Amino acid sequence: MTPSYIIAGNWKMNKTPQESIDFISTLHEKLILNDKTSNKSTSSNPIEVLIIPPFTSLFAVNNSSNQIKIGAQNLFYEEKGAYTGEISPLMLKGLVDYVLIGHSERRQIFKEDDISINKKIKTALKHGFIPILCIGETLEERESGNTFSKIENQLSADLDGLTDEEIRKLVIAYEPIWAIGTGKNATPDQAQEVHEFIGNFLMEKLKSKNFSDSQKVPLILYGGSVTPQNSFDLLSKKNIKGVLVGGSSLKIDDFFDIIMNCYKVTMD
Ligand code: PGA
Repeated sequence: MTPSYIIAGNWKMNKTPQESIDFISTLHEKLILNDKTSNKSTSSNPIEVLIIPPFTSLFAVNNSSNQIKIGAQNLFYEEKGAYTGEISPLMLKGLVDYVLIGHSERRQIFKEDDISINKKIKTALKHGFIPILCIGETLEERESGNTFSKIENQLSADLDGLTDEEIRKLVIAYEPIWAIGTGKNATPDQAQEVHEFIGNFLMEKLKSKNFSDSQKVPLILYGGSVTPQNSFDLLSKKNIKGVLVGGSSLKIDDFFDIIMNCYKVTMD
C-alpha cells in the first residue's frame, strides 16, 4: 500500500547497533500498543514510520519490526570497486527500502554535487530502493529572495534524465538549510508555500509528458527542527505529507509523539 504520510527519523551519526535495536524494538512495542488501544489495524494505516540509522546498524536492525521501515543515509553510485569508505547498492539489498540522497550535510560538508546526486538517484531506483531526495535553500538564498530558483535548479539538475515513471517513485524532502539542527523551523506557512511550489513543479514535469495519471506525484516531506510541539501544525498543511526528523528522532518519546500527531492529522 502506498502510504499517505511518512514519518522518518534520520539518526545521522548517532547510535550504536545495540542502541538502534533497543530503540526500534521499544518503538515497535509502542506502535503495537497504540494500534490495540485505538482499535486500528496497522495494515490499513496510511502512515509509514521510517528509521534511517547509520550503516553500522542496518544489519543489526534487519527484520526487527514489521511496523517500521528502514532506510540508509546514503549510497554510492558504483556497484563495486576501489572506492574506500563507500557503500554499494548491492550491500544495501535486503536491508533497506529507502535511501536518503542529497542531504544538505552531504552536499555541504562532503561536497556532493547535483551530478553525483543525480547518479545516486538513478542507481537507487535501478536497485529497487525508494530515494528520498533532499533539497532546500540556505539562509542567504532565502533572504535574497532566491528560494524558489534554488529549489527549481536543484530539482531540474537532480531529476535530469529520469522518466515520469521513475519520478513518481521518489519521495522529496524539503529541508531549508537554515532550519536544520538550529531549533529554528520554517513556519507551517513558509513550508507550505515551498511544498506547493515543489508539487506544482513536479505536476508540470509529469503532465508535460502526457502520462495519464498525472495526479500521482511524489510525497513531499518537511525537515528542519521538527519537534513534537510544531509537528501537528506542519503536518496539517495541505502539501506537507510527512516529516524528516533529525534531533527529535533520537528520543523515543519525542519521535513517538510526532507519529501520534500525524495520526491526529489523518483522523481530522
Ligand atoms: P533536525 O534535522 O530535525 O535536527 O533539524 C533534520 C534533518 O537534517 O534531516
